[in-house]
Amino acid sequence: MPFITCLLLPQGTISLEKYSRDFQGCDASVLLDDNATFIGEKTAAPNINSIRGFNVIDDIKAKVEKACPGVVSCADVVALAARDSAVYLGGPFWNVGLGRRDSLTASRALANISIPPPTSNLSALITSFSAQGLSFKDLVALSGSHTIGLARCTSFRGHIYNDSNIDPSYAKSLQRICPRSGKDNVLAPLDLRTPTRFDNLYYKNLLERKGLLHSDQELFNGNSADSLVRRYEGNPSEFFKDFASAMVKMNNIKPLTGRQGEVRKNCRKVN
Ligand code: HEM
Ligand SMILES: *[C@@H]1O[C@H](CO)[C@@H](O)[C@H](O)[C@H]1NC(C)=O
Ligand SMILES: *[C@@H]1O[C@H](CO)[C@@H](O)[C@H](O)[C@H]1NC(C)=O
Ligand SMILES: *[C@@H]1O[C@H](CO)[C@@H](O)[C@H](O)[C@H]1NC(C)=O
Ligand SMILES: *[C@@H]1O[C@H](CO)[C@@H](O)[C@H](O)[C@H]1NC(C)=O
Repeated sequence: MPFITCLLLPQGTISLEKYSRDFQGCDASVLLDDNATFIGEKTAAPNINSIRGFNVIDDIKAKVEKACPGVVSCADVVALAARDSAVYLGGPFWNVGLGRRDSLTASRALANISIPPPTSNLSALITSFSAQGLSFKDLVALSGSHTIGLARCTSFRGHIYNDSNIDPSYAKSLQRICPRSGKDNVLAPLDLRTPTRFDNLYYKNLLERKGLLHSDQELFNGNSADSLVRRYEGNPSEFFKDFASAMVKMNNIKPLTGRQGEVRKNCRKVN
């Protein structure tokens, strides 16, 4: 899984998670476009119609290339954009180690099997994070990134129609915009309170059974994550601190370094 880690932005831009959905490592493999002779990760099952905002990365990369050609990798651009977007929205700062190189390859098969779907239960989430070297605490803290951004109807339909661990009036209000069939791409905020602020209110939502995704509400469902959710709800600075350390860890998942890979000129294409 590449948990590439890397980005956090509100809707229409880029999301960290999107970039975390790249299981080769933090190597920008997820940015490669498909073409007649190449199949990448953008069209992998968990990514298609879900990863958005590549134009943001293209714009940043174009400016960086103009100022300083061939030096800053796309993987570093993504890691920095994730950090800066979190800070911009009121979240914590963390240091981003630089010098990642960009992959020459991508794997749709790996992306298909390694990225946890929003229907995952807690034990499946723990397993997939642990496969990337991320702890239980990292899982609960990183999920707090769902304090910003949007999800499609298809990502939360099962939760609002079939699950019992959801506030009934919240479920009802979502059912009005997301029917049992159709309107798959209608968007709803992951954090109903402050969808464009990076704060800890995501956890308050979970306590009130107002998590948007099944996987979100799994963190507060009478299981082992409940107590940490309560802690982060009551203690924003502890959440920020743990989130920042988990981001540093995620940023360092299998990067390419030294002479490995390359520094792409265009993030969408191998040089
Ligand atoms: C715990 C496992 C996770 C699951 C199952 C998950 C699932 C999802 C899903 C299904 C969406 C909505 C996609 C769509 O409907 O188009 C989403 C959005 C998002 N995720 Fe996650 N995610 C997880 C972890 C993370 C992590 C670790 C981060 C970053 C640290 C993250 C950051 C985001 C952001 C920022 C968005 C909003 C994107 C936007 O507005 O365009 N997620 N996630
Ligand atoms: C990955 O999932 C997509 C979409 O469901 C599917 O079309 C494709 O065959 C899968 N590819 C691989 C290589 O597993
Ligand atoms: C969690 O999900 C996994 C994978 O779908 C499944 O095998 C397992 O039985 C589920 N565990 C529980 C406790 O429901
Ligand atoms: C909800 O449950 C029904 C009945 O078990 C099932 O047919 C349907 O596929 C489920 N819907 C979703 C979106 O998971
Ligand atoms: C297709 O994409 C691959 C990977 O980015 C690249 O190496 C190749 O040159 C591209 N082919 C065309 C015709 O653009």
